Parts: sequence; structure tokens; C-alpha cells
Amino acid sequence: MSGPIVITGASSGIGEACALAFAREGRSLVLGARRSERLNAVAKACMKAGAPEALALSLDVKSLASITAFARVANALNPSVLINNAGLAKGRDPVAQLQDHDITEMIDVNVTGFLRVARAFLPGMIERKGGHIVNLGSLAGREIYEGGAVYCATKYAVRAISQTLRLELSGTGIRVTEIAPGLVETEFSIVRTGDIEKAKLPYQGIDPLTAVDIADCVTWAVNRPAHINIGEIVLTPVAQASVSKVSRRPV
Ligand SMILES: NC(=O)c1ccc[n+]([C@@H]2O[C@H](COP(=O)([O-])OP(=O)(O)OC[C@H]3O[C@@H](n4cnc5c(N)ncnc54)[C@H](OP(=O)(O)O)[C@@H]3O)[C@@H](O)[C@H]2O)c1
Repeated sequence: MSGPIVITGASSGIGEACALAFAREGRSLVLGARRSERLNAVAKACMKAGAPEALALSLDVKSLASITAFARVANALNPSVLINNAGLAKGRDPVAQLQDHDITEMIDVNVTGFLRVARAFLPGMIERKGGHIVNLGSLAGREIYEGGAVYCATKYAVRAISQTLRLELSGTGIRVTEIAPGLVETEFSIVRTGDIEKAKLPYQGIDPLTAVDIADCVTWAVNRPAHINIGEIVLTPVAQASVSKVSRRPV
């Protein structure tokens, strides 16, 4: 499969690292996110790193119109891989104190947007009888923690949708992989807390995963021979045994 690789949420973190890793392999890219300046800079870096083409397109997965416009351009290039990565957490309030805008933001981006992006690319892949969808799940899609009800629910949904897709796409030649990382140090925690100092706490006293570690898993899964489907990859920092059991060095 030689069509471009489509990556949502490519303006930072895991999406950006995936873009650069595929660029180094000489793959063409279609990148989407809301922050155009950041995304353009990533596309430029990808071209420098070896991508024959790196298209930066504005994408807000909360808007069906935006997804449709993004997919129209990307689908015209017959993409071979979709990295369905755009996602976020907002807040860590217990259910009794949940902010309404946090509930809707997480569900709109991580579930509704995620599903709509997959739906926008599936018909083309089915018609071409091949392709690969890589979904960014989480350890939080396998275990829950206090203050994580909505984020965990959305990532449990990513796992359920990934499993459903493998059933529905059986016989089409399309591969479906879910990557489920534990603590990865990106802008994720800054987006969640809205506070640069607080955002450092989850990574304190450990060697967290990096976005490059996740990109390694994604490129490995995508580069397996076409008859192999890597269903799920769960990875954590060595110090993290579960969502709530993290062994930290004294600081
Ligand atoms: N970091 C972790 O510990 C961790 C662990 C497990 C799973 N994950 C998952 O990994 C994925 C990537 O997160 P990350 O850690 O790389 O965080 P990040 O650095 O904050 O990146 C998130 C990306 O998602 C994009 N995004 C957010 N809302 C969007 C929207 N409405 N429309 C389009 N794009 C949107 C952001 O781009 P714009 O803001 O420019 O739109 C950004 O490029 C997420 O699905 C996250 O849930 C992260």
C-alpha cells in the first residue's frame, strides 16, 4: 500500500511524532489539527525529514463539516493508513462535580469525532480492498480511576469501537490496531489541567513514555507484512504497573 498516511491531531505529541517517523521512512502525509501554525511547522519538518509530500489541513473533529472537508481532500489521494489520534482529557473532577463543558468536549472529540473520522475513511478503504486504521486508545480504556469517569469512558469506547471494526471489516483486507499507552509526556496533561506546573505532576519521579516511543509502536504495527494484523499494543513506563500504581523516585 503506497497511499499517504493520514494523521489526526498531528500538531503536537504523539501525532506529530508519528508524522516525523513516517516522514523519515519516505511516506507521504496528510496531517490534520486545529492549530494551523503548529501543523504547518510539523508538515515543513516532515518534508525536511524525507516525506515526498506533507499536506497540512485544518481539522476540528468536533465539526462534521470540518471532518467532511478534510476527508474529501485526503480521500482523493487514496490514503493507505489512518492514524485516528486526535483526543484529549479535560479536568479530573469526580462525577458529582463534573463540568458540563468537560463532559461534552471529551465525548465530542474522543468518541463522536473519532467515529466520524473513521466513517469518513472506511468506504474508500473498503472499495480499495485494503488499508490500516490505527486508533489511539489508552490504559484508561482498560482500567478506571477516580476523577477519570468521562475520559476512561471515552477510551473504553475506543477499545469497543476498535474491536467492533475488526469484526465488521473481517474479509475486507483492512487492518485495525489499537495502541493503548500509559503515561506519555506530551501536552496532554497541560490540556487536561490548564496549568503548566500541575501538568508536570503525573511525570514526576518517573521516566515516562515519550511520543517517540508511541510512534515506534505505530510504525512497527503499520510496517508488519500485509497478512499480519497487530490488534492491540498496551505499553507503560516501567514504573507504571496500573493507572493508579506508579512507583516514583523521591523528589
Ligand atoms: N499523553 C498520554 O499520556 C496519553 C496516554 C494514552 C493515550 N493518549 C492519547 O493519545 C492521543 C494524542 O494525545 P497526546 O498525548 O499526543 O496529546 P497532545 O500533545 O495534547 O496532542 C493532542 C492532539 O489532538 C489534537 N486535537 C485535540 N482536539 C482536537 C479537535 N477538536 N480537532 C482536531 N484535533 C484535535 C491536538 O491538535 P489541536 O489542538 O491543534 O487541534 C493535538 O494535535 C489522544 O487521543 C490521547 O487521548 C495520550
